[in-house]
Formats: sequence, structure tokens, C-alpha cells
Amino acid sequence: MSSPSATKHINFKVGANDWNKASANYAANVSKTPMSIPITRLIEMLDSHSSLSSATSILDIGCGPGSVTSQLISSHHATLPTTTQLLATDFSSGMVGVVFQVRASKLNELQQGTEKDTWARVTPLVMDAMNLAPLLDHSISHIIANFVFFMVEDPVKALKETHRVLRPNGVGACSSWSRMQWMESLAIAASRTFPSLNKPTPEMPTVTASWTSCEGVSEQLKAAGFTETHTEYVEAPIVMPDVEQFAHFFLTSGNPAVTWITDVLDEQEVKEVEKQFVQVVKENCEKNDDGAYVLAGTAVIAIGRK
Ligand SMILES: C[S@@+](CC[C@H](N)C(=O)[O-])C[C@H]1O[C@@H](n2cnc3c(N)ncnc32)[C@H](O)[C@@H]1O
Repeated sequence: MSSPSATKHINFKVGANDWNKASANYAANVSKTPMSIPITRLIEMLDSHSSLSSATSILDIGCGPGSVTSQLISSHHATLPTTTQLLATDFSSGMVGVVFQVRASKLNELQQGTEKDTWARVTPLVMDAMNLAPLLDHSISHIIANFVFFMVEDPVKALKETHRVLRPNGVGACSSWSRMQWMESLAIAASRTFPSLNKPTPEMPTVTASWTSCEGVSEQLKAAGFTETHTEYVEAPIVMPDVEQFAHFFLTSGNPAVTWITDVLDEQEVKEVEKQFVQVVKENCEKNDDGAYVLAGTAVIAIGRK
């Protein structure tokens, strides 16, 4: 499998409090993120490696606002056994709080049926990916961690915990970023803005290289004890019908993707970076058939069996 073009490596090793700050914005704007394509593929891969019709328990690690759990219920509620337990876990209590709210509104809105019944079996829990206690050894049939492991303090520990709690033959799927043109564009925008503000340009954080390639992720899964590993690249772009609107959302999101810049600037200075970001996008990005600018994104999608 050929690797996509080499890019900078980003590292989002940030604490739960940082994600707490981002949780409300993240939840409200999840449709602007490039998440749904990788999530769809992760769910397909889980199902094809071990049918969701046999799932006893599904664990969403680093669930954020519950995007994976929501998408999985939406597409597979009729397939899941009526006894399947769903755990949506994150070390950020803000994110877990969002999942509680989503669950409450689903239970309120949905008519009686398998989708509502499945939401009733979702348990949101604050839990660190590196320590999944109190989950028992060999207790979970399916695990997904979407864009999580590459940003935890000790990814080896997180993968070992994932392996520990999986039942024999259970499957675990995860994803990371190989390329994010939105980060590349932000770095260019920062390099153009900071000198004129008389401030040193902060260094863009980096991701450990092993999380940016199929080969690297596959090796890590194997080292944690997974077998029958499969990895692939998936294109997950951000499509921007309105670049200015996206730039504003992105720069004010509080997401660790931007806080390395926004934490050292005041509101007016952030606006300057925002303007430059729009400019960089217009200079460098392709437009799609609908005339919307597209920021390229390439995810590494991986699965393994215990
Ligand atoms: C990029 S977001 C992805 C959220 C979600 N999986 C999705 O698909 O929308 C990363 C999430 O990982 C969580 N996270 C980061 N480090 C974690 C850790 N050590 N344990 C549990 N969750 C963690 C963050 O709080 C955040 O919600």
C-alpha cells in the first residue's frame, strides 16, 4: 500500500480539561468536521470482521460527543441483539455530559422501536483510555476508538487496555490522521501572522510518526497482541461551502487543533489568523463541483482481532 504524500505530524496530547472546554462547540458543529466517512468505514470493518448481529457489548473509547455511537445506532439498531450493551466513554466529563444529553433527547424524540431501545442501553461513562478499569478482562465484543489513540499520553497502554477488555475473537478498530490540510493551512496562516504581531510563532505540535501510516499503526496493533490486522487510508476531507464561516468556527472552536495558536493571542489577533487562513485556503485548495473549497484529509483506519 503506498503512503500518501509526507506531511507535518501533529500531536494533540492535551488534558481532559482542554477537551471539556471544546465539548459544547465540538458537539454543536460535528457536521463541519470530516468525521463521518472514517466512522462509516470503521463500523463497516467491525461488522465485516465480527458481525454486529452477534455483539454482546460495544465500547466507544474517547467517544467525544458520541458521534460513533450515534452513527452505529442509526445504521445498525435493527441488527443489534436486543441485549447488546453500549458504553460511550471519554476522559472528558464535558464530552460524556454531551452524550448524556444526546441520549436524553433521543429517548424523548424517538418513537417506540429498536432505535429507541438501543439508545436506552447506552451508558455514558468518564473513563481514561489508558485505564479501562472497572471493565473486566475479556468482557467486550466490539471496540471503536475514532481519532483517539494517537493523542493519548501513552498509546501503547491504551492499546493494551483495549486488548485486555476484548473477549477472545473480539475486534477493535481505531483511526488516526495521516494528513490534515487544515493544520498545514493553519501553520502557514500562523507563520504569516505572528511576525506582524511581534510574537514568536508557536511550534505546531506533532504526532508520533508511527500513527500517521498504515504500516506504523498496524505494527502497534500487533505489538499490543492483535492478530488479523488490516489497515487502510481513507480520504476524509473538509468541504467548505462558506470558507469564512468555516474559518471562524475552526479558529474559535477551542479544539486542541487550534489552541496551540489561539491560547497565545487575543481576540483581535485570532481574527488576523482567521483572515490569513481564509487567504491560504483560497490560494492552495481545490474546489469541488459545487464550487466549495476542499481541505484534504487522509485518515488511517485500522482493525485487529484478539
Ligand atoms: C478528536 S476527538 C474524537 C471524538 C470522537 N471519537 C469522534 O469520533 O467524534 C478525541 C476525543 O478523545 C478524547 N480523549 C483524549 N485522550 C483521552 C484519553 N486518554 N482517554 C479517553 N479519552 C480521551 C477527547 O476527550 C476527545 O473527546
